[in-house]
Amino acid sequence: MDLFISQNDIALAAQYLLAGEVIGIPTETVYGLAADITNESAVKNIFKLKGRPLSHPLIVHIADINDLSRYALNIPPYAYQLAHLFWPGPLTMVFQKSNEVGHWVTGNQETVALRMPNHPLALALIKQVGKPLAAPSANRFGRISPTIAEHVIQEFNAAIKVLDGGPCGVGIESTIIDATKADECRVLRPGMITLQELKKAINTKIVDKNHNETGPKVSGSLKSHYAPLKPTWVFKNMPEYDSMRQNFSGSCYLLYLSEAFKNKEEQSLRMPSLPKEYAKSLYHALRQADDSNKDMIAIELPPESGEWVGILDRLQKSSYTTHSQLFSKVL
Ligand code: TXA
Ligand code: MG
Repeated sequence: MDLFISQNDIALAAQYLLAGEVIGIPTETVYGLAADITNESAVKNIFKLKGRPLSHPLIVHIADINDLSRYALNIPPYAYQLAHLFWPGPLTMVFQKSNEVGHWVTGNQETVALRMPNHPLALALIKQVGKPLAAPSANRFGRISPTIAEHVIQEFNAAIKVLDGGPCGVGIESTIIDATKADECRVLRPGMITLQELKKAINTKIVDKNHNETGPKVSGSLKSHYAPLKPTWVFKNMPEYDSMRQNFSGSCYLLYLSEAFKNKEEQSLRMPSLPKEYAKSLYHALRQADDSNKDMIAIELPPESGEWVGILDRLQKSSYTTHSQLFSKVL
């Protein structure tokens, strides 16, 4: 049976979802592992497939801004402003949940994360199903998120079908904010919608960095997440690269930005110098490096400025077990 559902078969994909199946779907950020939010056993199956603890809530994907007030309660005015400005797009907002959202979606929490994805196939599919779709990223728990349909099939050993929407345009997961308070908005996970853009859009106080001890659970905030299997190091400059290489005698797959690293390793990949392009290719590059026959992955640190924060966060999590002390400045 064909595991890839073509973009012309939205109706078929909707049928699978309405029949209680879990399928892979494209979004502009990364591929999601989707189920109809009203189907408890289908949603539970997402957790099983991912190997994700049941207490980690899923994002609910809607296709119409008007559905915001159907699934969320106590929506502050700034959240409407952000929705009108950034939806459809890579922004997820957490609210108090309405009774229309089952506890099986929210990991028994009283809050729900809502997002309207900016992908024509995802939007058409949600409309066709007639109900929102719960979807975490379509990777096994703790692993790299998929940005093409083939990665979804690989990740789940062909156990699920995937609606093929081609490569994702954004490439890293959405920015998540906690919008449960009227007078304060908290960034729970950085993404390609930056703190600066959020600050420009609203007058409400924005709390930058969450340490999450008491707030809602964000699984991406576990320190080692989005991780390749190989040891992964991030270095800042040539001296750091040299000392890393002196300490590690194995072979290395290098992801670099500066010309100076061009011929340093047998296998390397030059990363794009613009953050949007970098984000778009990051997970693909990490998978390629992880699938190579090299012993480790080394990554040149991108500039530590605002528009790179989402990317720096993912690099830090990818390299957490081997190298975490670099990222004190912006994160
Ligand atoms: O770009 C994205 O956000 C992608 C695409 C598929 O939409 N989805 C994604 O899902 O990254 P996932 O499950 O891998 O990460 C969603 C994050 C998790 O860290 C989860 O804990 C958090 O959203 N989340 C979901 N519901 C929440 C809630 N009620 N309160 C706080 N965090 C929540
Ligand atoms: Mg994820």
